[in-house]
Amino acid sequence: MPLLDHFGIIAPFYDRVFGSTKIGIWQRALDLPFEGLLLDAAGGTGRVAQHLGCPLCQVIVADASFQMVQETQNKPGLLASTTTIEKLPFSDCSFERVLMVDALHHVVNQRQTCMEMWRVLKPGGRLVIEEPDIETVFVKFLALAEKILLMRSHFISPARIASIFEGLPAEINITRQDNIAWVIVERLD
Ligand SMILES: C[S@@+](CC[C@H](N)C(=O)[O-])C[C@H]1O[C@@H](n2cnc3c(N)ncnc32)[C@H](O)[C@@H]1O
Repeated sequence: MPLLDHFGIIAPFYDRVFGSTKIGIWQRALDLPFEGLLLDAAGGTGRVAQHLGCPLCQVIVADASFQMVQETQNKPGLLASTTTIEKLPFSDCSFERVLMVDALHHVVNQRQTCMEMWRVLKPGGRLVIEEPDIETVFVKFLALAEKILLMRSHFISPARIASIFEGLPAEINITRQDNIAWVIVERLD
């Protein structure tokens, strides 16, 4: 249990503070639309999920923070699950798409988190991990600020995220824009 539950405190204001300006980027990265299940892993309030605009897919937001998940429950069309991403309550190969935005640096075990997202991804499916790009000066300052705020964040580079999937039947692409990086993992088996 963290000393301070930052996300529990900020949950009611989260969407207003962070907004949703990258809808087109998320849609393209996820190759929307498609028909099936999409998991927004550590999806918080559903800030991102609510805008994905995928009429034939069911979006499930999974997050460890009860207060963040409560905000998701107020949004039409989204299902929510309070769970840690390191141990998801879903069967193997159940999602066509898995998305994680701005959360990998917050989880306790990044390797286990990535492997768990891979486990629930269907063969032929796509996993998109968006992270602040720690190789930029701005994000180095952000990392310092999060340390000062006792957030226990642990930023890793896009290449290190990609390396977690080494040896798996995956095609991996990294894109960067401004201070953000996207690691896109296609499951090929
Ligand atoms: C910066 S917020 C991002 C939320 C959402 N993805 C977005 O972009 O709006 C990080 C989220 O990660 C969640 N989180 C952190 N560690 C987690 C874990 N191990 N399992 C599930 N959720 C976790 C927090 O509760 C929080 O909602």
